[in-house]
Amino acid sequence: MTTYRIAPSILSADFARLGEEVRNVVAAGADIIHFDVMDNHYVPNLTIGPLVCQAIRPHVQVPIDVHLMVRPVDRIIPDFAKAGADIITFHPEASEHIDRTLQLIRDSGCKAGLVFNPGTPMHYLDHVMDKIDIILIMSVNPGFGGQSFIPEALNKIAYARKKIDESGRDIMLQVDGGIKVDNIAAAAAAGADTFVAGSAIFGQPDYKGVIDAMRTQLATVGK
Ligand code: DX5
Ligand code: ZN
Repeated sequence: MTTYRIAPSILSADFARLGEEVRNVVAAGADIIHFDVMDNHYVPNLTIGPLVCQAIRPHVQVPIDVHLMVRPVDRIIPDFAKAGADIITFHPEASEHIDRTLQLIRDSGCKAGLVFNPGTPMHYLDHVMDKIDIILIMSVNPGFGGQSFIPEALNKIAYARKKIDESGRDIMLQVDGGIKVDNIAAAAAAGADTFVAGSAIFGQPDYKGVIDAMRTQLATVGK
Protein backbone atom coordinates (compact mmCIF):
# COMPACT_ATOMS: atom_id res chain seq x y z
CA MET A 1 0.00 0.00 0.00
CA THR A 2 1.20 3.50 -0.83
CA THR A 3 1.91 5.85 2.06
CA TYR A 4 0.02 9.04 1.25
CA ARG A 5 1.12 12.40 2.63
CA ILE A 6 -0.85 15.62 2.96
CA ALA A 7 1.26 18.77 2.58
CA PRO A 8 -0.67 21.96 3.42
CA SER A 9 0.68 25.03 1.61
CA ILE A 10 1.06 27.94 4.01
CA LEU A 11 0.48 30.32 1.09
CA SER A 12 -3.18 30.37 2.14
CA ALA A 13 -2.47 30.62 5.89
CA ASP A 14 -2.99 33.75 7.98
CA PHE A 15 0.53 35.24 7.83
CA ALA A 16 -0.16 37.43 10.86
CA ARG A 17 -0.48 34.23 12.96
CA LEU A 18 1.89 31.93 11.08
CA GLY A 19 3.35 30.04 14.07
CA GLU A 20 -0.10 29.21 15.38
CA GLU A 21 -1.30 28.29 11.88
CA VAL A 22 1.48 25.75 11.27
CA ARG A 23 1.06 24.26 14.77
CA ASN A 24 -2.66 23.91 14.17
CA VAL A 25 -2.32 22.29 10.76
CA VAL A 26 0.25 19.78 12.04
CA ALA A 27 -2.04 18.98 14.98
CA ALA A 28 -4.80 18.47 12.40
CA GLY A 29 -2.73 15.75 10.71
CA ALA A 30 -0.43 17.44 8.16
CA ASP A 31 2.54 15.25 7.22
CA ILE A 32 4.65 18.00 5.63
CA ILE A 33 4.57 21.81 5.57
CA HIS A 34 4.74 23.12 1.98
CA PHE A 35 6.53 26.49 1.83
CA ASP A 36 6.01 28.49 -1.39
CA VAL A 37 8.81 30.91 -2.26
CA MET A 38 7.99 33.41 -5.03
CA ASP A 39 10.23 36.20 -6.30
CA ASN A 40 8.08 38.47 -8.52
CA HIS A 41 10.46 37.56 -11.34
CA TYR A 42 10.18 33.87 -12.18
CA VAL A 43 6.52 34.07 -11.06
CA PRO A 44 4.34 37.19 -10.76
CA ASN A 45 4.03 37.19 -6.98
CA LEU A 46 6.25 37.80 -3.96
CA THR A 47 6.07 35.73 -0.79
CA ILE A 48 8.46 34.53 1.89
CA GLY A 49 12.13 33.69 2.33
CA PRO A 50 14.60 31.93 4.63
CA LEU A 51 13.87 34.19 7.63
CA VAL A 52 10.27 33.01 7.72
CA CYS A 53 11.36 29.38 7.30
CA GLN A 54 13.70 29.81 10.27
CA ALA A 55 10.89 31.43 12.27
CA ILE A 56 8.43 28.56 11.81
CA ARG A 57 11.03 25.77 12.15
CA PRO A 58 10.75 25.49 15.98
CA HIS A 59 6.96 25.29 15.71
CA VAL A 60 6.79 22.09 13.62
CA GLN A 61 8.34 18.63 13.88
CA VAL A 62 7.31 17.52 10.37
CA PRO A 63 9.48 18.15 7.29
CA ILE A 64 9.44 21.62 5.71
CA ASP A 65 9.21 21.35 1.93
CA VAL A 66 10.50 24.50 0.22
CA HIS A 67 9.09 25.02 -3.29
CA LEU A 68 11.35 27.56 -4.96
CA MET A 69 9.66 29.65 -7.65
CA VAL A 70 12.68 31.91 -8.03
CA ARG A 71 15.38 32.73 -10.58
CA PRO A 72 18.30 32.48 -10.08
CA VAL A 73 17.99 29.42 -7.86
CA ASP A 74 21.42 28.47 -6.53
CA ARG A 75 22.33 31.45 -4.35
CA ILE A 76 19.38 31.01 -2.02
CA ILE A 77 19.66 27.22 -1.50
CA PRO A 78 22.22 27.18 1.35
CA ASP A 79 20.19 29.88 3.15
CA PHE A 80 17.09 27.67 3.15
CA ALA A 81 19.10 24.64 4.25
CA LYS A 82 20.44 26.67 7.21
CA ALA A 83 16.91 27.90 7.93
CA GLY A 84 15.73 24.32 8.48
CA ALA A 85 14.36 23.16 5.12
CA ASP A 86 14.22 19.38 4.70
CA ILE A 87 13.18 19.26 1.02
CA ILE A 88 13.99 21.84 -1.67
CA THR A 89 12.43 21.75 -5.14
CA PHE A 90 12.98 24.08 -8.08
CA HIS A 91 11.77 24.61 -11.65
CA PRO A 92 14.27 23.36 -14.26
CA GLU A 93 13.67 26.41 -16.50
CA ALA A 94 14.89 28.62 -13.64
CA SER A 95 18.30 26.94 -13.32
CA GLU A 96 21.18 27.27 -15.78
CA HIS A 97 22.66 23.95 -14.59
CA ILE A 98 20.05 21.51 -13.35
CA ASP A 99 22.44 18.75 -12.34
CA ARG A 100 24.57 21.21 -10.36
CA THR A 101 21.54 22.68 -8.58
CA LEU A 102 20.29 19.21 -7.59
CA GLN A 103 23.75 18.37 -6.24
CA LEU A 104 23.93 21.68 -4.38
CA ILE A 105 20.64 20.91 -2.61
CA ARG A 106 21.86 17.44 -1.64
CA ASP A 107 25.25 18.75 -0.52
CA SER A 108 23.33 21.18 1.71
CA GLY A 109 21.75 18.18 3.46
CA CYS A 110 18.28 18.40 1.91
CA LYS A 111 16.22 16.18 -0.36
CA ALA A 112 16.15 17.54 -3.92
CA GLY A 113 13.50 17.69 -6.59
CA LEU A 114 12.32 19.12 -9.88
CA VAL A 115 9.00 20.91 -10.42
CA PHE A 116 7.11 20.66 -13.72
CA ASN A 117 4.74 23.44 -14.76
CA PRO A 118 1.68 22.44 -16.81
CA GLY A 119 3.56 23.30 -20.05
CA THR A 120 7.00 22.01 -19.04
CA PRO A 121 8.12 18.85 -20.81
CA MET A 122 9.17 15.92 -18.65
CA HIS A 123 12.45 15.26 -20.50
CA TYR A 124 14.32 17.28 -17.86
CA LEU A 125 14.19 14.08 -15.80
CA ASP A 126 16.08 12.03 -18.35
CA HIS A 127 19.66 12.30 -17.16
CA VAL A 128 19.24 13.24 -13.51
CA MET A 129 16.95 10.56 -12.04
CA ASP A 130 19.78 9.35 -9.80
CA LYS A 131 19.93 12.77 -8.10
CA ILE A 132 16.19 13.21 -7.59
CA ASP A 133 14.33 12.51 -4.33
CA ILE A 134 11.05 14.17 -5.30
CA ILE A 135 9.12 15.07 -8.47
CA LEU A 136 6.51 17.80 -8.19
CA ILE A 137 3.83 18.06 -10.87
CA MET A 138 2.12 21.46 -10.97
CA SER A 139 -1.60 21.18 -11.64
CA VAL A 140 -1.90 24.99 -11.93
CA ASN A 141 0.48 27.59 -13.32
CA PRO A 142 2.63 28.71 -10.39
CA GLY A 143 2.21 32.05 -8.68
CA PHE A 144 -1.08 32.01 -6.82
CA GLY A 145 -3.19 29.87 -4.54
CA GLY A 146 -6.85 29.18 -5.18
CA GLN A 147 -6.65 28.30 -8.91
CA SER A 148 -8.49 25.43 -10.61
CA PHE A 149 -6.90 22.01 -11.14
CA ILE A 150 -5.71 21.44 -14.75
CA PRO A 151 -6.78 17.85 -15.63
CA GLU A 152 -3.85 17.26 -18.04
CA ALA A 153 -1.70 17.06 -14.89
CA LEU A 154 -3.10 13.55 -14.35
CA ASN A 155 -1.31 12.34 -17.50
CA LYS A 156 1.95 13.90 -16.31
CA ILE A 157 1.56 12.28 -12.89
CA ALA A 158 1.05 8.91 -14.57
CA TYR A 159 4.14 9.49 -16.74
CA ALA A 160 6.24 10.45 -13.70
CA ARG A 161 4.96 7.40 -11.79
CA LYS A 162 6.12 5.16 -14.64
CA LYS A 163 9.58 6.77 -14.67
CA ILE A 164 9.86 6.40 -10.87
CA ASP A 165 8.82 2.75 -10.96
CA GLU A 166 11.29 2.05 -13.77
CA SER A 167 14.08 3.71 -11.77
CA GLY A 168 13.47 1.45 -8.78
CA ARG A 169 14.32 4.41 -6.53
CA ASP A 170 12.34 5.80 -3.61
CA ILE A 171 11.14 9.09 -5.14
CA MET A 172 8.23 11.10 -3.76
CA LEU A 173 5.62 12.12 -6.36
CA GLN A 174 3.92 15.34 -5.35
CA VAL A 175 1.04 17.23 -6.98
CA ASP A 176 0.45 20.93 -6.32
CA GLY A 177 -2.42 23.21 -7.33
CA GLY A 178 -6.18 23.04 -7.02
CA ILE A 179 -6.15 19.86 -4.93
CA LYS A 180 -9.43 19.43 -3.04
CA VAL A 181 -11.33 16.63 -1.32
CA ASP A 182 -13.18 15.88 -4.56
CA ASN A 183 -10.14 15.41 -6.84
CA ILE A 184 -7.45 14.04 -4.51
CA ALA A 185 -8.41 10.40 -5.26
CA ALA A 186 -7.99 10.97 -9.01
CA ALA A 187 -4.49 12.36 -8.44
CA ALA A 188 -3.66 9.36 -6.23
CA ALA A 189 -5.06 6.91 -8.79
CA ALA A 190 -2.77 8.50 -11.41
CA GLY A 191 0.20 7.79 -9.13
CA ALA A 192 0.75 10.77 -6.82
CA ASP A 193 1.63 10.02 -3.19
CA THR A 194 1.99 13.54 -1.74
CA PHE A 195 -0.70 16.20 -2.03
CA VAL A 196 -0.12 19.92 -1.62
CA ALA A 197 -3.28 21.81 -0.70
CA GLY A 198 -3.45 25.46 0.26
CA SER A 199 -6.88 27.03 -0.07
CA ALA A 200 -8.68 23.70 0.44
CA ILE A 201 -7.24 23.45 3.97
CA PHE A 202 -6.36 26.96 5.20
CA GLY A 203 -9.48 28.35 3.51
CA GLN A 204 -11.69 26.25 5.81
CA PRO A 205 -12.28 26.67 9.54
CA ASP A 206 -11.81 22.97 10.39
CA TYR A 207 -8.37 21.85 9.16
CA LYS A 208 -8.74 18.37 10.66
CA GLY A 209 -12.12 17.93 9.00
CA VAL A 210 -10.61 18.61 5.55
CA ILE A 211 -7.49 16.47 6.11
CA ASP A 212 -9.60 13.57 7.43
CA ALA A 213 -11.94 13.88 4.43
CA MET A 214 -8.89 13.79 2.11
CA ARG A 215 -7.61 10.65 3.83
CA THR A 216 -11.05 9.03 3.52
CA GLN A 217 -10.89 9.71 -0.23
CA LEU A 218 -7.34 8.34 -0.45
CA ALA A 219 -8.45 5.15 1.31
CA THR A 220 -10.77 4.44 -1.64
CA VAL A 221 -7.78 4.27 -4.04
CA GLY A 222 -6.56 0.70 -4.33
CA LYS A 223 -2.82 1.38 -4.68
C1 DX5 B 1 1.14 27.83 -6.46
C2 DX5 B 1 1.76 27.18 -5.25
C3 DX5 B 1 0.86 26.24 -4.55
C4 DX5 B 1 -0.38 26.89 -3.99
C5 DX5 B 1 -1.44 25.86 -3.95
O1 DX5 B 1 2.10 28.50 -7.19
O2 DX5 B 1 2.91 26.45 -5.62
O3 DX5 B 1 1.55 25.52 -3.55
O4 DX5 B 1 -0.20 27.39 -2.70
O5 DX5 B 1 -2.62 26.49 -3.55
P1 DX5 B 1 -4.04 25.83 -3.82
O6 DX5 B 1 -4.08 24.51 -3.12
O7 DX5 B 1 -4.98 26.82 -3.26
O8 DX5 B 1 -4.17 25.66 -5.33
ZN1 ZN C 1 3.83 25.06 -4.16
